[in-house]
Amino acid sequence: AHTRWATHGVPNEANAHPHIAGRVAIVHNGIIENHARLRAELQAGGHVFTSDTDTEVMAALIDRHLDQGLDLREAVLATVRELEGAYAIAVLSRDAPGRVVGARRGAPLLVGLGIGENFLGSDAQALIQVTHRMLYLDEGDVVEITRDSVQVCGLDGAPAARAVHESELSTDAVERGEYRHYMQKEIFEQPHAVASTLEARLGPHGVLPNTFGVDSDALLQATRGLHIIACGTSYHAGLVAKYWIEEFARLPVSVEVASEYRYRETVVPEGTLFVAISQSGETADTLAALRESRRRGYLGTLVICNSPESSLVREADLKLMTRAGPEIGVASTKAFTTQLAGLALLSLELARRHGLDPDRYIALCAELQHLPRAIEDALQLEPAIIELAGEFIQRQHALFLGRGAQYPVALEGALKLKEISYIHAEAYPAGELKHGPLALVDEKMPV
Ligand code: F6R
Repeated sequence: AHTRWATHGVPNEANAHPHIAGRVAIVHNGIIENHARLRAELQAGGHVFTSDTDTEVMAALIDRHLDQGLDLREAVLATVRELEGAYAIAVLSRDAPGRVVGARRGAPLLVGLGIGENFLGSDAQALIQVTHRMLYLDEGDVVEITRDSVQVCGLDGAPAARAVHESELSTDAVERGEYRHYMQKEIFEQPHAVASTLEARLGPHGVLPNTFGVDSDALLQATRGLHIIACGTSYHAGLVAKYWIEEFARLPVSVEVASEYRYRETVVPEGTLFVAISQSGETADTLAALRESRRRGYLGTLVICNSPESSLVREADLKLMTRAGPEIGVASTKAFTTQLAGLALLSLELARRHGLDPDRYIALCAELQHLPRAIEDALQLEPAIIELAGEFIQRQHALFLGRGAQYPVALEGALKLKEISYIHAEAYPAGELKHGPLALVDEKMPV
């Protein structure tokens, strides 16, 4: 089974997965960038498409390669070599019963190893109820699975061996329990998730040694500034950290959306640390930005991430794992607050090395220790919040305002409202209201 946002065409049944061409059926996560040209070529050859998707183009290409006498794995290999863009796919052919061929580039894919059964999934969480043994595929890999065999090869077709990992996820972590939906469960997991993120990293005298890895000492000491790169919620976490690091460590910080960063030239002052933030560790723009950063002359790279096996974590010099546990709800909640906890540790560590007054440092560390308790108190407000939400439910728009580090929090609030309620929301630095958006404020506009 596969569900996916419609990236090509409207969300209707024809554009939903799986896509079928001739004897081939395929599900796909990712975006094929040269699909229009490939589609035109196939149409010129007489192929008739039934959807608007890039995915159906892949199905048609694989089917055409099967016509030319290739077997399923070879046909998938020949097809992915023609693609530009990102894909994780699973492919079946009517002529190859009992076999599934998968491939990945720029989107995650792993094999779950069972007994007399094997599985393909985008994430260990999706498979944890059927197996704990996971085989992660590398960029460009193609894999063929049957009930009792798994064969991996690289993009060049040469056989490849990939290590098997025993996943430490617990099945409880992906069950909904007493909560109405995962997002509610994850909101209530925040005190525990933040406490875990701080555990064994923050003591009574401050941030503990090696919190950022054994090799972090020299890099953090040499850091003269930071570039933080991320998308969506993780970007907002980065914006909050800018306020903290500039105030406490007095180091300059610039924060940029990964998709902007990767498509423009940047100036990198000497001694700049590149920091990427991501819940999943697989966001294509963030990963591309990390790879691009290698060319731009940074002091080193640090990743703050929630997925230990992810591509970002594997490719960075330093890593700090947030320990939020699986985040299943589409809208990020506990991942955001654990990222803030991780960034608070980074801010304090840099502040200590770069001259913050020791008493202030200890006081800030004590406040951070108290954070899980403070979140617990905030969660007690749920009944009052539910009542307030009742007043807003009929509104079409909302404005969120904040000053200082609360400004990025306002951005995050507006993003949450849009994603979850489909109510249009915008956020502004509090002082900007009078410079234009005030025109929108009337008795119907919640601010
Ligand atoms: C919003 C949300 C997204 C993600 C963004 C980056 O609720 O979930 O904005 O934050 O897609 O994802 P990661 O952090 O996995 O790189």
